[in-house]
Amino acid sequence: MKTALITGTNRGIGLELARQLLEAGWQVHATARDPDASAELKALVDEHPHTLQLHALDVADAAAIRALAEELADESIDWLINNAGIYGPRGVAFGNVTDVDTWLEVFRINSIAPMLVMQAFVDQVARSDERKIGILSSKVGSMGDNGSGGGYIYRSSKAAVNAVIKSASIDLEPRGINVVALHPGWVLTDMGGPNAEITTAQSAEGLIRNMAGLTETDRGRFIDIDGTTIPW
Ligand SMILES: NC(=O)c1ccc[n+]([C@@H]2O[C@H](COP(=O)([O-])OP(=O)(O)OC[C@H]3O[C@@H](n4cnc5c(N)ncnc54)[C@H](OP(=O)(O)O)[C@@H]3O)[C@@H](O)[C@H]2O)c1
Repeated sequence: MKTALITGTNRGIGLELARQLLEAGWQVHATARDPDASAELKALVDEHPHTLQLHALDVADAAAIRALAEELADESIDWLINNAGIYGPRGVAFGNVTDVDTWLEVFRINSIAPMLVMQAFVDQVARSDERKIGILSSKVGSMGDNGSGGGYIYRSSKAAVNAVIKSASIDLEPRGINVVALHPGWVLTDMGGPNAEITTAQSAEGLIRNMAGLTETDRGRFIDIDGTTIPW
């Protein structure tokens, strides 16, 4: 049986990724800051009592990440999916950037936490059959795709995680681990808002298809939801 560990599964894309992998027969370690507070996660446990394990994890807490990795030390994790993310304050235009701590918090969650999660679980991924790490980035983190400016905080946090992903894809190649940046599309979630283009179900379907199809040549690629490459 294949196993995935996904962060930020209590709502949005993470919840749907967990649901679809469970329906496909996977074992899923679903992490969330407060899993007990999510009715959707509890319902999923009722449907998949033997294959879904919930774990409390705030990815801002480095010690908690290490503790969970120790608790799951004997596991084999085929897909490690870093999904948890925050947008941070909206509408911060040039001239209005004043709150340094808020920007740093977005970096902590979007750019640094994925690195800490990768480091903590690398042994579990290395001993699995599939050995894949997918990190939810965003097209707005692309320099090549930035034609509209703005979005300083979120854009820079995703550009930073892209740099993390690229380096990890090189550093983990000797261990046979494939690390990629995944854009989930513009998705109807709390973050994506009501004008987004696709549902969480469509996004998770595409993300799972892209993870499933990864080969050697995809190492360190920035992959759009339709499978095409996004420029850095
Ligand atoms: N929606 C889009 O259009 C879109 C586009 C591009 C990229 N993305 C990326 O896709 C990923 C998922 O986005 P989404 O749209 O599903 O967002 P969402 O609906 O806002 O959900 C975000 C998830 O991340 C979790 N999270 C936030 N901070 C956390 C922390 N410190 N520790 C653990 N979990 C934390 C949230 O948990 P809580 O409920 O505890 O806050 C929630 O489960 C993010 O990385 C996002 O940047 C989304």
